[in-house]
Amino acid sequence: MHPDFFYAIIITVLLMQTIQFYCLFLNISDRSLCLILNKEYYYIMRSFEYYTPTKVIFGKDTHLKVATLLKEQHCKKVLIHYGGHSAIKSGLIDEIRSVLDEAGIAYVTLGGVVPNPRLSKVREGIELCRRENVDFLLAVGGGSVIDSCKAIGYGLANPETDVWNFFLRTETPKACLPVGVILTIAASGSEMSNSCVITNEDGWLKRSTARNDLCRPRFAILNPRLTYTLPQYQTESGCVDILMHTMERYFVNIETMEITDSISESLMQTVIYNSRILLKEPDNYTARAEIMWAGSLSHNGLTGCGTGGGDWACHQLEHELGGTYDVAHGAGLAALWGSWARYVYDANPERFAQFATNVFEIPCSIDFNKTALAGIEAMEDYFRSIQMPTSLHELGLDLTEKDIHDLAFKCSYEDTRTIGVFKQLNMKDMEKIYLAAR
Ligand code: NZQ
Ligand code: ZN
Repeated sequence: MHPDFFYAIIITVLLMQTIQFYCLFLNISDRSLCLILNKEYYYIMRSFEYYTPTKVIFGKDTHLKVATLLKEQHCKKVLIHYGGHSAIKSGLIDEIRSVLDEAGIAYVTLGGVVPNPRLSKVREGIELCRRENVDFLLAVGGGSVIDSCKAIGYGLANPETDVWNFFLRTETPKACLPVGVILTIAASGSEMSNSCVITNEDGWLKRSTARNDLCRPRFAILNPRLTYTLPQYQTESGCVDILMHTMERYFVNIETMEITDSISESLMQTVIYNSRILLKEPDNYTARAEIMWAGSLSHNGLTGCGTGGGDWACHQLEHELGGTYDVAHGAGLAALWGSWARYVYDANPERFAQFATNVFEIPCSIDFNKTALAGIEAMEDYFRSIQMPTSLHELGLDLTEKDIHDLAFKCSYEDTRTIGVFKQLNMKDMEKIYLAAR
């Protein structure tokens, strides 16, 4: 071995020991020191693909641009798809109708999409659009309406296949009718995402298609003012979902990239800060706007660049709750996250410690377990501060052991699959997490 190389190794080892020594005695409160430690072990430039074809039109009154955008898409007849009452009550649907009338764009309407959107409504939409020769799908609403549109788009563009097979993942869609979005709730990120989640009333199975760029919306109109009418519970539940889309990608057990970590940590801090403002000031435009843009960025792939895809165990556990008990998605995630985190953190306490320090500014002790647990507690305290549940009981569910076994059985596809990558979870693990969340 060349002596220079030998000396270089000795110097590196001594440097590392000095840093650790320094950290130990200072009980580090300095974010950059914690980063130095983590950087040595965790940062690496990974290969990744990033594709976000959705045109975003952000700001006040942007929904009035919908006719121009539809014309850009050469649309001849559009389905205006919406939910229960909110978009009618606010006058938004009427406004869209008159903009389209003025522009001479033909349309049909179909409302009645419910949260945890149903397969029966998708089938109704497919039939209606076929009959009416619809060639573009406009979602006016949140994740439920957007996903219903995406599923209708898959059904229409693949007439030889029963649409549910895409959710069972026994078949892969070859095309999707184009979808555009006027967003009324910041939460799911479906306005830019490549996924679609539908509930089949036959068995109450809530399932997502495999990720597929075909369903990414062509455009997303983001007017933060359209979210002013949201009930507080939906606003805050949406904020949790936004956080979780970044956290699912952040809590991985592999080397990540510093730039991606920094974007993610900053996004999380922004959502935490502004969600607290919205609790007191629901008409605060700036806070609504920050949250809305964070919602799209959180789930368009940006925070997953170089993190290998993400964990997604919490989402899988929650989808079973949503399908079976019809709870709000974000609130369900809040109820489960702490139990999941305590169950898995020891697989990589350093990662949780980094989260605690960089998101909640908790001094990073050399005892990573201690810092990790303090970070989990801080997140749960935050959930409580925005009136989100941290247990199934607080979510409104008092489940028996049999109920919990059934959930784990469904979530594990009858004990045939595992979920998560931070720590791989089998049916027994899922059952323990649900039990801990009771
Ligand atoms: O039906 P209306 O009357 O419109 O009421 C809705 C609904 O009750 C209401 N709402 C929406 N905008 C409003 C409003 N109320 C007043 N004023 C407004 N401006 O909010 C309630 C919830 O709407 P929903 O669309 O269900 O919410 P969200 O956007 O949270 O979507 C949840 C669905 O998206 C899925 C979830 O699993 C859930 O089914 N997800 C979809 C994803 C995707 N495709 O990428 C990713 C997510 O992780 C998530 O799984
Ligand atoms: Zn989600």
